[in-house]
Amino acid sequence: MKIPVLSSKDLLTVMSLSRKEIISLFDFAAKLKKAQKSGKPHRLLEGKTLAMIFEKTSTRTRVSFEIGMYQLGGYALFLSHNDIQIGRGETISDTARVLSRYADGIMIRTFSHDKVIELARNADIPVINGLSDLFHPCQALSDLFTIYEREPGFAGRKLAYVGDGNNVAHSLMLCSAMLGMDIAVATPKNYQPDREVVSMAFRLCAESGSHVTVTTDIKMAVENADYLYTDVWTSMGQEREAEKRRRVFRDYKITRALLSKCADGCRVMHCLPAHRGEEIEDEVLDSDVAIVFDQAENRLHVQKALLCALMG
Ligand code: CP
Ligand code: NVA
Repeated sequence: MKIPVLSSKDLLTVMSLSRKEIISLFDFAAKLKKAQKSGKPHRLLEGKTLAMIFEKTSTRTRVSFEIGMYQLGGYALFLSHNDIQIGRGETISDTARVLSRYADGIMIRTFSHDKVIELARNADIPVINGLSDLFHPCQALSDLFTIYEREPGFAGRKLAYVGDGNNVAHSLMLCSAMLGMDIAVATPKNYQPDREVVSMAFRLCAESGSHVTVTTDIKMAVENADYLYTDVWTSMGQEREAEKRRRVFRDYKITRALLSKCADGCRVMHCLPAHRGEEIEDEVLDSDVAIVFDQAENRLHVQKALLCALMG
């Protein structure tokens, strides 16, 4: 299996990659998925190690990276920030230098995107953003791969994101714009995506010929949508705002009624974990139109492709 070559050392945002590199990663992920499903060994990272720093909790990210490394013949080390010296004030740059002497790659989930940048700047080895306050690139790549394996062309297709203009929304906007899929983001006023990210998405759209819409109007956003996406109203670290957010976001919810306003055959997506009954009704999440567990599974295959490309 030929491993794709990337021009960037790290994956800090989806913009660390070019459109061509994303597609070659997707094609490689599809091969790895097939190999894994058919029990064919693919130990492309024999003897390699990945240090994984977590400042926040995780199910999918932790398990998919850890099992992914194992399946590739390597080893992943789980480092809770409370159990390493970062938790007691050791600097990110010293941590980067030390880990570079032991490991072949670092994955970090952190509150501050600046820390991801600082880590990458000081590490000699690849750094992967496993979620920051601003971005969740591994999620968006896996989501767009989930669409790609259903229908390889993105042009003329539309994804509607309804909910908080958060890290997941940001990465989805950039990734869709890069790949040429239309994206409409509907959020309550004051919860819109970051302005710089929106302008970046507009720039990328101009290059790919797709459209980005940012609105508070849910109906307008979901019109003709082929994919309807949502994420939690309250992200990790915002727990104190949960009650207020439940009020503000009340209408920004995926229901059967909202789905009926999308294109025929529209599929429902969610990065998970879901707060059932808040941003999405059980009835929709548990129905055949939801492809959320495909998305979760594809975290494994896409990240394995990425790990090979960065560390292989
Ligand atoms: N979607 C996602 O990143 O899930 P975890 O928080 O469980 O890793
Ligand atoms: N926006 C959510 C995503 C969780 C995968 C959060 O940051 O908590």
